[in-house]
Amino acid sequence: MVLNTKGGCGKSTVATNLASYFAYEQELNVALEDFDPQGSSMDWLQARPDYYPEIKGIRAYQDPARAPKNTDVVIIDAPAATYGKDMSSLVRRADTILIPVLPSPIDIRAAAQFIHDLLLQGKVSRKQTRIAVVANRVRENTRVYHTLEKFLKSLKIPFIATLRDTQNYIRSAEQGIGIFEMAPSSVYKDLEQWERLTRWLRSKRSLPEAAK
Ligand SMILES: Nc1ncnc2c1ncn2[C@@H]1O[C@H](COP(=O)(O)OP(=O)(O)O)[C@@H](O)[C@H]1O
Ligand SMILES: [Mg+2]
Repeated sequence: MVLNTKGGCGKSTVATNLASYFAYEQELNVALEDFDPQGSSMDWLQARPDYYPEIKGIRAYQDPARAPKNTDVVIIDAPAATYGKDMSSLVRRADTILIPVLPSPIDIRAAAQFIHDLLLQGKVSRKQTRIAVVANRVRENTRVYHTLEKFLKSLKIPFIATLRDTQNYIRSAEQGIGIFEMAPSSVYKDLEQWERLTRWLRSKRSLPEAAK
């Protein structure tokens, strides 16, 4: 599940590229559930050319349909601004939660508060769900994450990847494909950045105790 109450931090970007990773790179059956009424993930799927591996789209915000039985991986694109009870029932669906955060002091403070609420109001049980943070749209070696890093360390939440700010993600959104499906010569830097993220997802560390 890709989650953050802030809009525009990269939830749909991470969710759609992850779907492409599992479908194209790992050749798995992927379902992409969009809980955001803005439907960005579903727009992405709509733009996806037929000759790329199929990803099953579920407009979860209007249709509670479940992923097909043969699904290997479910990616959930969560809506911005989910509060209280809604949040609790949503996060309970996830084995693993990825939180994209933009490199601005305001976004970082909001993310720290959000993670604090998730954990300390008991919405997420550390036994049932793994959480990691992804820094998104990073322009250079920014130091702004320093405070967030310290905070995450105190909670033992890993900061697993940094994704740069690049037109490749804009192209990805327009064309319905992930960076894994683009010409390697134009995305090699991004593939390198995603390697850390996907390695963590492939490792048992991304799975909750219950699923190991
Ligand atoms: N790393 C990035 N580099 C460039 N543009 C990005 C990046 N991540 C997201 N974007 C763009 O920023 C906008 C918001 O991202 P999006 O994934 O839709 O956020 P959210 O789903 O959290 O609202 C989109 O136009 C998206 O293409
Ligand atoms: Mg979105």
